Amino acid sequence: MSGQTDQHSRAGATAADIQAHYDVGKEFYGLWLDPDLTYSCALWDGITGDPARTDLLLKAQHAKLRYHLSQAGITANDRLLDIGCGWGSLLRTAAEETGVRHAVGLTLSTDQHAHACSLGLPGVDIRIQDWRDHEPDTTYDGIVSIGAFEHFTHVDMSRDERITAYHAFFARCAAWLPPLGRLSLQTIALTDGHDLDGPVPAFFAREIFPGSALPRLSDITTACEPYFAITALREDSADYVRTLRAWSTRLLQARDKAESLVGPDTYRRYRTYLRASEIVFTRRASTLYRITLRRLRCRPR
Ligand SMILES: C[S@@+](CC[C@H](N)C(=O)[O-])C[C@H]1O[C@@H](n2cnc3c(N)ncnc32)[C@H](O)[C@@H]1O
Repeated sequence: MSGQTDQHSRAGATAADIQAHYDVGKEFYGLWLDPDLTYSCALWDGITGDPARTDLLLKAQHAKLRYHLSQAGITANDRLLDIGCGWGSLLRTAAEETGVRHAVGLTLSTDQHAHACSLGLPGVDIRIQDWRDHEPDTTYDGIVSIGAFEHFTHVDMSRDERITAYHAFFARCAAWLPPLGRLSLQTIALTDGHDLDGPVPAFFAREIFPGSALPRLSDITTACEPYFAITALREDSADYVRTLRAWSTRLLQARDKAESLVGPDTYRRYRTYLRASEIVFTRRASTLYRITLRRLRCRPR
């Protein structure tokens, strides 16, 4: 890993910030996520029934992973980059179902890296690497980034500073794609016109996601110029309400085991964060975007 990633002068979450959240450990996350450990909003189109059921949660997560692979234009024998690959569920779907030739996954979490490597996926290279330090030899056919964008800036940055940081991300993605290549991005966002302040965001920034901040859609549309055109946009906040309800129900059902793994304080923090998030999404103070971006022909700097 680059030594640069731990510098707090860098925009967004540092490796230490990421590890504070994700390295709580896969045994704990495995109690309430789906068996593939996908840790982002699922896609519930046409899926009915109790979202906390393992088979339904898994189905909705797979629907989301397939959606992003399709939006990124990934087909058999392609080269794929997954920025913020988590425990490797998208890479697994890409390798086992789509048949990609080569895929690279980036994470800052040592626990995620160890687990994703243990999957032994053919043609898949998982790295503990910040996207800012990624320097591939050749371009990719498509890029997916799910639930990582929220970590690329922090709450103390001004809007101009955040736009600059997002702009750098889009410039790098554009440089890694051929003209017309696609990036499929999923992120939580602040709803334009809503101000989320007070104890809830302060609790998130202090206790749950240090070094992280939510973008607004207008930040993304501004920052992706002149590299990308947005070709599809889904706003799926109801999907996050269902996903969060599934996760918090499953965590509650596994309370004894969870407390024995991480202690009562951490258990309580996570239950509070999942319930608070559900309320924030229900009230539409935050929302969930799935955004397809197509690289324009201009030359990335
Ligand atoms: C909420 S998890 C989502 C994981 C996965 N995409 C999923 O849906 O299950 C966020 C991921 O972003 C990664 N991440 C955050 N900031 C990053 C950065 N600057 N460079 C690379 N990965 C980063 C974290 O390590 C983590 O794997």
